[in-house]
Amino acid sequence: MDPMLDFTGKVGLITGAASGFGKMLAEELGHRGASLVIGDINETALRQVAEELAGQDIPVRALRCDVSREADCKAMVDTAVKEFGRLDMAVNNAGIAHDFVAMHDIDEALLDRQINVNVKGVIFGMKYQLPALIEAGGGAVVNTASMAGIGGAPKLAPYAAAKHAVIGVTRTAAVDYGRRNIRVNAVCPYYTLTPMLEGSDGIASGGDAEKTLSMMASGTPMKRLGRPEEIVAVMMMLLSPANTYMNGQALAVDGGVSAF
Ligand SMILES: NC(=O)c1ccc[n+]([C@@H]2O[C@H](COP(=O)([O-])OP(=O)(O)OC[C@H]3O[C@@H](n4cnc5c(N)ncnc54)[C@H](O)[C@@H]3O)[C@@H](O)[C@H]2O)c1
Repeated sequence: MDPMLDFTGKVGLITGAASGFGKMLAEELGHRGASLVIGDINETALRQVAEELAGQDIPVRALRCDVSREADCKAMVDTAVKEFGRLDMAVNNAGIAHDFVAMHDIDEALLDRQINVNVKGVIFGMKYQLPALIEAGGGAVVNTASMAGIGGAPKLAPYAAAKHAVIGVTRTAAVDYGRRNIRVNAVCPYYTLTPMLEGSDGIASGGDAEKTLSMMASGTPMKRLGRPEEIVAVMMMLLSPANTYMNGQALAVDGGVSAF
């Protein structure tokens, strides 16, 4: 197998694995030899994903988890170590968006929810993942940030605040744990066609969803939105055992939007 894509014997943990990027990443890693602990707050959808993976002979354990709860983040790591003996990679991918909102209309509950899920989820995740990775002799962490973590995101200030924080803690962990042979990077997608964007309660669902999506697409150099597999390909590259010196990066996967 191409060493870039050979995950044989590796044990990985993915949050937000019941849908979108997380689900697709679980399939890709599983097909390339990884054993997986997958977590999500949506237990029904998670169970279905676990059944699909197990049906393809991928070693998998599924755990209902709410990443805003520290105990749940710990349980994910404990499960990997107990069931598979180690942890080699962790993907803190669970996240939530919100409806477009002007800065002067933001309420505290919305802001709290963004910070609790999108920021605490990543910090609590790494709090328990990093010691397990040290124990394994090193490994890789990928945090799912966003282009909203790199620049301004119109009418998405709470989400942008949270994703900027994700990049901040990614870089900090990279600096602090590099000497332990741990690489920590973030992937920063532009708008990509997952349920978060196009689902019935996705961020483009209010008003004319088709018009919103087409406006988002026309503003990009490639004149289209991202496809989930295009983000997952970069997550695989960031996790790859053959990618040994990339650390502390926040990688834009945006069809060229940041080149403007
Ligand atoms: N789709 C995009 O346009 C886009 C762009 C940039 C960044 N992202 C980020 O990508 C990540 C994955 O999003 P996606 O597009 O695959 O969306 P998605 O909605 O398809 O998947 C997100 C998953 O996270 C789970 N989740 C939500 N809150 C959780 C919690 N508290 N604990 C555990 N699981 C929880 C959901 O149940 C869902 O299965 C998110 O962090 C999101 O912010 C998405």
